[in-house]
Amino acid sequence: MAAFFKCAGLSKRFGGVQAVRGVGFNLLPQEILGLIGPNGAGKTTVVRMIMGLVRPEQGHLLFKDRDITRMSPWRRVSLGLTGTFQNSRPLRNLPVLANVMVACQSPRVARRGQWLKTMEARALEALEFVGLADLAMTPAASLSQGELKRLEIARALSTEPELLVLDEPFAGLNEAETRLLANSLAQLRRGGKFGRVHSEGCAMIIVEHKLAELMRLADRILVLHFGEVLAEGRPEDVVRDPRVVEAYIGAEVA
Ligand SMILES: Nc1ncnc2c1ncn2[C@@H]1O[C@H](COP(=O)(O)OP(=O)(O)OP(=O)(O)O)[C@@H](O)[C@H]1O
Ligand SMILES: [Mg+2]
Repeated sequence: MAAFFKCAGLSKRFGGVQAVRGVGFNLLPQEILGLIGPNGAGKTTVVRMIMGLVRPEQGHLLFKDRDITRMSPWRRVSLGLTGTFQNSRPLRNLPVLANVMVACQSPRVARRGQWLKTMEARALEALEFVGLADLAMTPAASLSQGELKRLEIARALSTEPELLVLDEPFAGLNEAETRLLANSLAQLRRGGKFGRVHSEGCAMIIVEHKLAELMRLADRILVLHFGEVLAEGRPEDVVRDPRVVEAYIGAEVA
């Protein structure tokens, strides 16, 4: 069968630190993979390699049957692979709406000859989806941490991703905000109301330390430890795996 997303043998060293070694996994359309592990395990490095922001020293990446290992980040976006960062850095003095419209200018959207009005409508649609439409004209600098996270997701959504990579989307969110965002992500995966492409649903790779929320969303969990895959499987099996409890979950609870 054709591969929707596949990475294999990904490795990256920073100076003396082997941040990632031989990491690989496959993903199906609309599948949600949770990526967990202790601080420094290599999660962010893996997702930055997937987004094209860090070049792997070894390994390769396939997306919709294309080898994207050396493809620039913006070309990956134009193919439908988008992500958000662990730390959001909006254009602080611009309104929320403008922050989303900037992201809309990805080739994926522009290629179809859609201009300002369409971008504005698309940006508003994305803001509505994440519950930020009321703040469209507010400068990004005055958003709360939770609102900033949702702005990041709106920016990513406006490029019509088929694979969305999220690095700690729930970090800094209170319980209500976390629930809201988790519901939006579940809806995004199922597809439906949001635009034409999303009606087919969206696959996701979610890095997260908030395990309870992640377990509700993820079909599968991959555990990284010292840059390598320690375990992979269904959420309920992985969290009971003694190696995972010892390396990560024990420490999280303590
Ligand atoms: N740009 C960089 N330069 C040097 N070392 C780096 C760089 N990025 C990551 N590292 C190192 O690589 C290792 C993996 O880091 P990474 O950020 O991928 O971990 P993580 O699993 O995302 O951790 P966290 O849960 O704290 O976000 C760490 O030892 C980190 O210090
Ligand atoms: Mg990280």
